[in-house]
Amino acid sequence: MAILVTGGAGYIGSHTVVELLTAGYEVIVLDNFSNSSPMSLKRVSEITGREFKIYNVSILDRNGLEKVFSENSIHAVIHFAGFKAVGESVEAPLKYYQNNISGTILLCEMMQKYEVKRLVFSSSATVYGVPKVVPISEDSPLSATNPYGRTKLMIEEILEDLFRSDNRWSISILRYFNPIGAHDSGKIGEDPSGIPNNLVPYITKVAVGKLRELKIFGADYPTKDGTGVRDYIHVVDLAMGHLKALEKNFASTGVSTYNLGTGKGYSVLEIVKTFEKMCGEKIPYTITERRPGDVAVCFSDPSKAKKELNWSAKKEIEEMCADSWRWQAKNQEGYDEEENTILAGTGNLRLIQNNGDFLY
Ligand code: WQD
Repeated sequence: MAILVTGGAGYIGSHTVVELLTAGYEVIVLDNFSNSSPMSLKRVSEITGREFKIYNVSILDRNGLEKVFSENSIHAVIHFAGFKAVGESVEAPLKYYQNNISGTILLCEMMQKYEVKRLVFSSSATVYGVPKVVPISEDSPLSATNPYGRTKLMIEEILEDLFRSDNRWSISILRYFNPIGAHDSGKIGEDPSGIPNNLVPYITKVAVGKLRELKIFGADYPTKDGTGVRDYIHVVDLAMGHLKALEKNFASTGVSTYNLGTGKGYSVLEIVKTFEKMCGEKIPYTITERRPGDVAVCFSDPSKAKKELNWSAKKEIEEMCADSWRWQAKNQEGYDEEENTILAGTGNLRLIQNNGDFLY
Protein backbone atom coordinates (compact mmCIF):
# COMPACT_ATOMS: atom_id res chain seq x y z
CA MET A 1 0.00 0.00 0.00
CA ALA A 2 1.72 3.16 -1.21
CA ILE A 3 1.42 6.16 1.07
CA LEU A 4 2.10 9.58 -0.44
CA VAL A 5 3.76 11.91 2.09
CA THR A 6 3.72 15.58 1.07
CA GLY A 7 6.40 17.60 2.83
CA GLY A 8 8.11 14.30 3.64
CA ALA A 9 11.56 15.90 3.81
CA GLY A 10 10.55 18.18 6.68
CA TYR A 11 11.05 17.74 10.42
CA ILE A 12 7.84 15.87 11.23
CA GLY A 13 7.51 14.46 7.71
CA SER A 14 10.91 12.76 7.72
CA HIS A 15 10.28 11.21 11.15
CA THR A 16 6.92 9.92 9.93
CA VAL A 17 8.50 8.44 6.78
CA VAL A 18 10.95 6.52 9.01
CA GLU A 19 8.06 4.98 10.96
CA LEU A 20 6.03 4.22 7.81
CA LEU A 21 8.98 2.43 6.18
CA THR A 22 9.77 0.59 9.41
CA ALA A 23 6.13 -0.57 9.56
CA GLY A 24 6.48 -1.97 6.02
CA TYR A 25 4.54 0.63 4.03
CA GLU A 26 5.66 1.63 0.54
CA VAL A 27 6.29 5.40 0.69
CA ILE A 28 6.39 8.11 -1.97
CA VAL A 29 7.66 11.51 -0.88
CA LEU A 30 6.61 14.75 -2.54
CA ASP A 31 8.58 17.83 -1.48
CA ASN A 32 9.83 20.99 -3.22
CA PHE A 33 12.52 21.49 -0.56
CA SER A 34 11.46 25.13 -0.07
CA ASN A 35 11.84 24.68 3.68
CA SER A 36 13.69 21.36 3.95
CA SER A 37 16.73 19.50 2.63
CA PRO A 38 16.83 16.35 0.46
CA MET A 39 19.56 15.24 2.87
CA SER A 40 16.92 14.36 5.41
CA LEU A 41 15.59 11.75 2.98
CA LYS A 42 19.03 10.30 2.37
CA ARG A 43 19.34 9.92 6.15
CA VAL A 44 15.86 8.32 6.31
CA SER A 45 17.04 5.75 3.80
CA GLU A 46 20.18 5.11 5.89
CA ILE A 47 18.13 4.68 9.10
CA THR A 48 15.61 2.28 7.57
CA GLY A 49 17.69 0.56 4.89
CA ARG A 50 14.76 1.19 2.54
CA GLU A 51 14.61 3.08 -0.77
CA PHE A 52 11.61 5.13 -1.80
CA LYS A 53 10.54 7.46 -4.59
CA ILE A 54 11.04 11.21 -4.18
CA TYR A 55 9.28 13.80 -6.37
CA ASN A 56 10.71 17.31 -6.33
CA VAL A 57 7.27 18.87 -6.76
CA SER A 58 5.34 21.78 -5.21
CA ILE A 59 1.75 21.18 -4.08
CA LEU A 60 0.92 24.19 -6.29
CA ASP A 61 2.22 22.35 -9.38
CA ARG A 62 -0.85 20.70 -10.92
CA ASN A 63 1.17 18.94 -13.64
CA GLY A 64 3.65 17.67 -11.08
CA LEU A 65 0.82 16.35 -8.89
CA GLU A 66 -0.74 14.72 -11.96
CA LYS A 67 2.53 12.94 -12.67
CA VAL A 68 2.82 11.64 -9.10
CA PHE A 69 -0.72 10.27 -9.05
CA SER A 70 -0.62 8.88 -12.60
CA GLU A 71 2.69 7.07 -12.09
CA ASN A 72 1.85 5.46 -8.75
CA SER A 73 -0.93 3.47 -7.09
CA ILE A 74 -1.52 5.64 -4.03
CA HIS A 75 -3.73 4.34 -1.22
CA ALA A 76 -3.61 7.28 1.18
CA VAL A 77 -1.97 10.67 1.66
CA ILE A 78 -0.32 12.20 4.72
CA HIS A 79 -0.22 15.94 4.03
CA PHE A 80 2.52 17.91 5.82
CA ALA A 81 3.54 20.32 3.04
CA GLY A 82 2.88 23.90 4.05
CA PHE A 83 4.46 27.05 5.44
CA LYS A 84 4.38 27.17 9.24
CA ALA A 85 6.10 30.26 10.65
CA VAL A 86 3.62 32.37 12.63
CA GLY A 87 5.63 35.59 12.37
CA GLU A 88 6.25 35.23 8.64
CA SER A 89 2.53 34.58 8.06
CA VAL A 90 1.72 37.97 9.60
CA GLU A 91 4.17 39.70 7.22
CA ALA A 92 3.17 37.70 4.11
CA PRO A 93 -0.41 36.44 4.53
CA LEU A 94 -1.08 35.96 0.80
CA LYS A 95 1.95 33.66 0.49
CA TYR A 96 0.48 31.54 3.30
CA TYR A 97 -3.08 31.50 1.95
CA GLN A 98 -1.84 30.67 -1.55
CA ASN A 99 0.56 27.92 -0.57
CA ASN A 100 -1.27 26.30 2.31
CA ILE A 101 -4.88 26.59 1.18
CA SER A 102 -4.62 26.57 -2.64
CA GLY A 103 -1.99 23.84 -2.39
CA THR A 104 -4.26 21.67 -0.25
CA ILE A 105 -7.18 22.24 -2.62
CA LEU A 106 -5.07 21.18 -5.64
CA LEU A 107 -3.92 18.09 -3.73
CA CYS A 108 -7.49 17.14 -2.80
CA GLU A 109 -8.68 17.69 -6.39
CA MET A 110 -5.97 15.30 -7.60
CA MET A 111 -6.90 12.78 -4.90
CA GLN A 112 -10.54 13.02 -5.98
CA LYS A 113 -9.61 12.52 -9.65
CA TYR A 114 -7.60 9.38 -8.84
CA GLU A 115 -10.13 8.10 -6.32
CA VAL A 116 -7.72 8.41 -3.38
CA LYS A 117 -9.95 9.33 -0.46
CA ARG A 118 -7.90 8.68 2.66
CA LEU A 119 -6.14 11.74 4.08
CA VAL A 120 -4.21 12.52 7.27
CA PHE A 121 -3.89 16.30 7.63
CA SER A 122 -1.20 18.08 9.64
CA SER A 123 -3.00 20.72 11.68
CA SER A 124 -1.90 22.62 14.77
CA ALA A 125 -2.93 23.59 18.29
CA THR A 126 -2.62 27.15 17.05
CA VAL A 127 -6.26 26.80 15.91
CA TYR A 128 -7.28 27.12 19.57
CA GLY A 129 -5.98 30.70 19.73
CA VAL A 130 -5.87 31.93 23.33
CA PRO A 131 -7.30 28.96 25.24
CA LYS A 132 -9.84 29.93 27.91
CA VAL A 133 -9.60 26.53 29.61
CA VAL A 134 -6.69 24.09 29.86
CA PRO A 135 -6.19 21.24 29.27
CA ILE A 136 -7.53 21.80 25.74
CA SER A 137 -9.89 19.19 24.27
CA GLU A 138 -10.88 18.86 20.58
CA ASP A 139 -14.22 20.57 21.21
CA SER A 140 -12.58 23.64 22.79
CA PRO A 141 -13.43 26.93 21.01
CA LEU A 142 -11.43 27.59 17.83
CA SER A 143 -10.06 31.05 17.10
CA ALA A 144 -6.83 31.41 15.19
CA THR A 145 -4.93 34.60 15.99
CA ASN A 146 -2.61 34.75 12.94
CA PRO A 147 -2.74 33.98 9.21
CA TYR A 148 -0.83 30.72 9.65
CA GLY A 149 -3.35 29.49 12.21
CA ARG A 150 -6.20 30.71 10.02
CA THR A 151 -4.91 28.62 7.09
CA LYS A 152 -5.06 25.54 9.31
CA LEU A 153 -8.56 26.43 10.51
CA MET A 154 -9.83 27.09 6.97
CA ILE A 155 -8.34 23.84 5.66
CA GLU A 156 -10.07 21.94 8.48
CA GLU A 157 -13.38 23.51 7.38
CA ILE A 158 -12.66 22.68 3.71
CA LEU A 159 -12.04 19.04 4.63
CA GLU A 160 -15.31 18.89 6.60
CA ASP A 161 -17.16 20.26 3.52
CA LEU A 162 -15.36 17.78 1.28
CA PHE A 163 -16.65 14.89 3.39
CA ARG A 164 -20.16 16.38 3.45
CA SER A 165 -20.03 16.39 -0.39
CA ASP A 166 -18.75 12.80 -0.62
CA ASN A 167 -19.00 10.52 2.40
CA ARG A 168 -16.51 8.05 0.98
CA TRP A 169 -13.69 10.24 2.30
CA SER A 170 -11.79 9.17 5.40
CA ILE A 171 -9.99 12.15 6.93
CA SER A 172 -7.96 12.50 10.14
CA ILE A 173 -7.10 16.00 11.31
CA LEU A 174 -4.17 16.01 13.75
CA ARG A 175 -3.60 19.09 15.91
CA TYR A 176 0.04 19.13 17.06
CA PHE A 177 1.10 20.84 20.25
CA ASN A 178 4.85 21.52 20.54
CA PRO A 179 6.94 18.93 18.67
CA ILE A 180 10.58 18.66 19.83
CA GLY A 181 13.25 15.95 20.01
CA ALA A 182 14.72 13.83 17.20
CA HIS A 183 15.23 10.24 16.10
CA ASP A 184 17.62 8.60 18.58
CA SER A 185 20.14 7.88 15.78
CA GLY A 186 20.89 11.61 15.67
CA LYS A 187 20.67 11.39 11.86
CA ILE A 188 17.49 13.43 11.39
CA GLY A 189 16.10 16.35 13.33
CA GLU A 190 14.76 19.88 13.28
CA ASP A 191 16.83 22.07 10.94
CA PRO A 192 15.19 25.51 10.79
CA SER A 193 16.76 27.96 8.32
CA GLY A 194 18.19 31.11 9.93
CA ILE A 195 17.55 32.05 13.55
CA PRO A 196 15.09 29.55 15.09
CA ASN A 197 11.70 30.93 16.14
CA ASN A 198 10.96 28.00 18.43
CA LEU A 199 12.39 27.43 21.91
CA VAL A 200 14.19 24.10 21.69
CA PRO A 201 16.05 24.58 18.39
CA TYR A 202 17.14 27.97 19.77
CA ILE A 203 18.40 26.32 22.97
CA THR A 204 20.36 23.67 21.02
CA LYS A 205 22.03 26.39 18.89
CA VAL A 206 23.06 28.17 22.11
CA ALA A 207 24.38 24.86 23.47
CA VAL A 208 26.65 24.36 20.43
CA GLY A 209 27.78 27.97 20.54
CA LYS A 210 26.06 29.09 17.33
CA LEU A 211 23.96 31.59 19.29
CA ARG A 212 25.17 33.56 22.31
CA GLU A 213 22.28 33.26 24.75
CA LEU A 214 18.59 32.39 25.01
CA LYS A 215 16.12 35.24 25.36
CA ILE A 216 13.23 34.12 27.56
CA PHE A 217 10.16 35.99 26.35
CA GLY A 218 8.58 37.14 29.58
CA ALA A 219 8.79 35.84 33.15
CA ASP A 220 5.66 37.62 34.39
CA TYR A 221 3.02 35.13 33.23
CA PRO A 222 0.60 33.66 35.79
CA THR A 223 2.50 30.35 35.84
CA LYS A 224 4.60 28.37 38.35
CA ASP A 225 7.79 30.33 37.58
CA GLY A 226 6.40 33.17 35.46
CA THR A 227 7.52 31.71 32.10
CA GLY A 228 5.29 30.28 29.38
CA VAL A 229 3.98 26.72 29.74
CA ARG A 230 3.60 24.41 26.72
CA ASP A 231 2.83 20.78 25.87
CA TYR A 232 6.09 19.46 24.39
CA ILE A 233 5.76 16.17 22.54
CA HIS A 234 8.54 13.97 21.12
CA VAL A 235 8.49 14.06 17.31
CA VAL A 236 8.69 10.24 17.18
CA ASP A 237 5.57 9.98 19.37
CA LEU A 238 3.95 12.44 16.98
CA ALA A 239 4.98 10.33 13.98
CA MET A 240 3.46 7.22 15.59
CA GLY A 241 0.20 9.15 15.98
CA HIS A 242 0.10 9.51 12.18
CA LEU A 243 0.40 5.77 11.67
CA LYS A 244 -2.45 5.18 14.11
CA ALA A 245 -4.58 7.76 12.30
CA LEU A 246 -3.75 6.08 8.97
CA GLU A 247 -4.88 2.71 10.31
CA LYS A 248 -8.17 4.33 11.34
CA ASN A 249 -8.54 5.86 7.87
CA PHE A 250 -8.23 2.41 6.32
CA ALA A 251 -10.91 1.08 8.68
CA SER A 252 -13.63 3.75 8.48
CA THR A 253 -14.85 6.89 6.68
CA GLY A 254 -15.65 10.29 8.16
CA VAL A 255 -13.67 13.24 9.55
CA SER A 256 -12.01 12.80 12.95
CA THR A 257 -9.95 15.41 14.79
CA TYR A 258 -7.32 14.61 17.42
CA ASN A 259 -5.00 16.52 19.73
CA LEU A 260 -1.51 15.07 19.62
CA GLY A 261 0.15 16.14 22.84
CA THR A 262 1.31 14.61 26.12
CA GLY A 263 -1.27 16.32 28.32
CA LYS A 264 1.55 17.76 30.45
CA GLY A 265 2.77 21.36 30.53
CA TYR A 266 6.37 22.44 31.07
CA SER A 267 7.59 26.03 31.54
CA VAL A 268 10.44 27.58 29.59
CA LEU A 269 12.67 27.55 32.68
CA GLU A 270 11.85 23.88 33.28
CA ILE A 271 12.89 23.08 29.70
CA VAL A 272 16.14 25.00 30.13
CA LYS A 273 16.95 23.20 33.38
CA THR A 274 16.04 19.77 31.92
CA PHE A 275 18.18 20.47 28.86
CA GLU A 276 21.15 21.45 31.04
CA LYS A 277 20.74 18.31 33.17
CA MET A 278 20.47 15.95 30.17
CA CYS A 279 23.23 17.48 28.08
CA GLY A 280 25.67 18.92 30.61
CA GLU A 281 25.67 22.20 28.71
CA LYS A 282 24.97 25.48 30.51
CA ILE A 283 22.37 27.59 28.70
CA PRO A 284 22.96 31.30 29.33
CA TYR A 285 19.77 33.34 29.16
CA THR A 286 18.25 36.75 29.78
CA ILE A 287 14.65 37.56 30.52
CA THR A 288 13.11 39.96 27.98
CA GLU A 289 9.64 41.31 27.18
CA ARG A 290 6.79 38.94 26.32
CA ARG A 291 6.58 37.97 22.62
CA PRO A 292 3.44 39.44 20.99
CA GLY A 293 0.83 36.74 20.41
CA ASP A 294 2.19 34.33 23.02
CA VAL A 295 -0.24 32.77 25.49
CA ALA A 296 0.64 31.96 29.11
CA VAL A 297 -0.38 28.31 29.21
CA CYS A 298 -1.26 25.83 26.47
CA PHE A 299 -1.41 22.07 26.88
CA SER A 300 -3.64 19.29 25.59
CA ASP A 301 -6.18 16.78 26.80
CA PRO A 302 -5.05 13.85 24.58
CA SER A 303 -7.65 11.36 25.86
CA LYS A 304 -9.64 11.20 22.60
CA ALA A 305 -6.61 9.94 20.64
CA LYS A 306 -5.95 7.41 23.38
CA LYS A 307 -9.55 6.15 23.25
CA GLU A 308 -10.12 6.17 19.48
CA LEU A 309 -6.62 5.62 18.06
CA ASN A 310 -5.14 3.64 20.92
CA TRP A 311 -2.29 6.17 20.80
CA SER A 312 -0.56 8.12 23.55
CA ALA A 313 2.81 9.83 23.85
CA LYS A 314 5.38 7.60 25.55
CA LYS A 315 8.55 9.70 25.74
CA GLU A 316 9.31 11.99 28.66
CA ILE A 317 10.77 15.49 28.58
CA GLU A 318 14.25 14.25 29.53
CA GLU A 319 14.40 12.01 26.44
CA MET A 320 13.09 14.82 24.25
CA CYS A 321 15.88 17.15 25.39
CA ALA A 322 18.60 14.49 25.12
CA ASP A 323 17.47 13.55 21.58
CA SER A 324 17.31 17.20 20.46
CA TRP A 325 20.82 17.71 21.78
CA ARG A 326 22.24 14.59 20.08
CA TRP A 327 20.89 15.70 16.68
CA GLN A 328 22.32 19.22 17.07
CA ALA A 329 25.67 18.07 18.46
CA LYS A 330 26.13 15.64 15.55
CA ASN A 331 24.90 18.10 12.90
CA GLN A 332 26.06 21.55 13.97
CA GLU A 333 25.29 22.97 10.49
CA GLY A 334 22.12 20.93 10.16
CA TYR A 335 21.95 19.10 6.81
CA ASP A 336 24.02 21.74 5.01
CA GLU A 337 27.40 20.04 5.26
CA GLU A 338 26.31 16.83 3.59
CA GLU A 339 24.01 18.56 1.09
CA ASN A 340 26.93 20.59 -0.23
CA THR A 341 28.87 17.36 -0.78
CA ILE A 342 26.03 15.82 -2.75
CA LEU A 343 25.39 18.96 -4.79
CA ALA A 344 29.09 19.00 -5.62
CA GLY A 345 28.31 15.86 -7.59
CA THR A 346 30.22 13.51 -5.35
CA GLY A 347 27.14 12.14 -3.66
CA ASN A 348 24.79 9.33 -4.57
CA LEU A 349 21.35 10.59 -3.70
CA ARG A 350 18.75 9.62 -6.33
CA LEU A 351 16.04 12.24 -6.76
CA ILE A 352 13.24 12.01 -9.29
CA GLN A 353 12.50 15.43 -10.74
CA ASN A 354 8.96 16.14 -11.86
CA ASN A 355 10.05 15.39 -15.41
CA GLY A 356 11.30 11.98 -14.42
CA ASP A 357 15.07 12.60 -14.71
CA PHE A 358 17.36 11.99 -11.78
CA LEU A 359 18.60 15.19 -10.26
CA TYR A 360 21.74 13.59 -8.91
C1 WQD B 1 7.47 28.00 23.31
C2 WQD B 1 7.69 28.83 24.58
C3 WQD B 1 7.79 31.20 24.15
C4 WQD B 1 11.51 30.99 21.80
C5 WQD B 1 4.76 27.63 17.97
C6 WQD B 1 3.73 28.02 16.98
C7 WQD B 1 2.74 26.92 16.81
C8 WQD B 1 3.43 25.60 16.52
C9 WQD B 1 4.49 25.30 17.56
C10 WQD B 1 3.31 25.13 14.15
C11 WQD B 1 6.83 30.10 24.62
C12 WQD B 1 9.14 30.68 24.67
C13 WQD B 1 10.39 30.66 22.56
C14 WQD B 1 12.54 31.78 22.39
C15 WQD B 1 11.28 31.84 24.45
N1 WQD B 1 4.00 25.61 15.22
N2 WQD B 1 10.29 31.07 23.85
N3 WQD B 1 12.38 32.18 23.70
O1 WQD B 1 4.93 29.63 20.33
O2 WQD B 1 4.19 27.62 21.72
O3 WQD B 1 4.18 27.47 19.23
O4 WQD B 1 5.38 26.42 17.59
O5 WQD B 1 2.24 24.57 14.17
O6 WQD B 1 1.91 27.25 15.73
O7 WQD B 1 3.04 29.15 17.49
O8 WQD B 1 6.36 27.51 20.44
O9 WQD B 1 8.77 27.14 20.76
O10 WQD B 1 8.00 29.36 19.77
O11 WQD B 1 7.60 28.88 22.20
O12 WQD B 1 11.18 32.21 25.61
O13 WQD B 1 13.57 32.12 21.75
O14 WQD B 1 9.04 29.26 24.59
O15 WQD B 1 7.47 32.45 24.73
O16 WQD B 1 6.46 30.34 25.98
P1 WQD B 1 4.88 28.16 20.52
P2 WQD B 1 7.76 28.24 20.73
